[in-house]
Amino acid sequence: MVVRTVVRGVGHYLPERVIPNSWFEDKVETSDEWIKARTGIERRHFAAEGETTSQMATKAVQNALKMAGWEASELDALIVATSTADLTFPSAATMVQAQLGMAGGFAFDIQAVCAGFVYALANANALVTSGQAKRVAVIGAETFSRILDMNDRGTCVLFGDGAGALVLEAAEGSGGPEDQGILATDLNSDGRFKDLLYVDGGVSTQSTGHLRMQGKEIFRHAVEKLAATAHTAIDKAGLNEGDIDWLVPHQANLRIISATAKKMQLPMEKVVVTVQDHGNTSAASIPLALSVGVQNGQIQPGQVVVTEAIGGGLAWGSVVLRW
Ligand code: UT7
Repeated sequence: MVVRTVVRGVGHYLPERVIPNSWFEDKVETSDEWIKARTGIERRHFAAEGETTSQMATKAVQNALKMAGWEASELDALIVATSTADLTFPSAATMVQAQLGMAGGFAFDIQAVCAGFVYALANANALVTSGQAKRVAVIGAETFSRILDMNDRGTCVLFGDGAGALVLEAAEGSGGPEDQGILATDLNSDGRFKDLLYVDGGVSTQSTGHLRMQGKEIFRHAVEKLAATAHTAIDKAGLNEGDIDWLVPHQANLRIISATAKKMQLPMEKVVVTVQDHGNTSAASIPLALSVGVQNGQIQPGQVVVTEAIGGGLAWGSVVLRW
């Protein structure tokens, strides 16, 4: 017998304000056609003035808790994956804890940019399997609209705001690939690639800064590294690509998603795609896609789901789980 970390609930929250591609047309030299053709993005949500990452995270996790039928007070741990926390400190996670009225347990943030949710899920799994927590919430939440340079057409059209959450619980498993829950994780980073995607500001440089990206270079790394990390995790789980029911990739660019699926020999019918509606929501993109995939009736209990993501760092990774 082994301890497995099993998903009991999933939920998401998207800010009300929807920004169509055409919104950018009088701000920078771009077009709806270019954005759709090069990225697959048709619209994204932007947070309202004063709406923060922790508020969106709270709404997402409340929806996940509702699905599980749990009270927030029943959680032992709460992790928020974000690069856009409300304040420098305390963590967005402790703010969510307060908004939920959760007095016990422990909460902390994980910062691995677009790979943040995969990192947070792997850490939650480590907490559960090592006996440090039984019930854990893992949230990805971002307000990237606040760090976009609205004069840079190469980045401002790509990102959006939102939050998604899973609540997970310790359960007994046999140790084999037939178990429900997280079956394998694979995390990687390589700081030599820092200049490919970064924000040119921060606390110790006394500014907030804007997102800067060498898109073409990221694209090249993404397809190669995402297929490799997914393969490693699938292999660690004792499965092969043919066993995968759903690929739930980080939603950055439809061309990256389809090239990675092709490399993994998965048809697009097995891929959950939400990039057209959300844009790239960084650490929120995978839990948002999981939540939409469950809501749409795509992801069913017992199915094998593979998630993968890459972002600034570079940091990348994959989690394989049976829903
Ligand atoms: O979350 C993880 C991090 N992010 C990513 O995964 C993003 C990875 N990269 C990408 O998705 C793509 O590289 C982009 C969507 C950012 C760019 O697509 P691309 O096909 O690689 O285009 P490009 O950068 O090679 O640019 C082609 C042309 C350039 O014009 P010239 O030099 O050929 O005249 C760009 O200036 O498209 C131009 N361009 C635009 N044109 C209209 C760049 N952005 C825009 C735009 N509208 N918004």
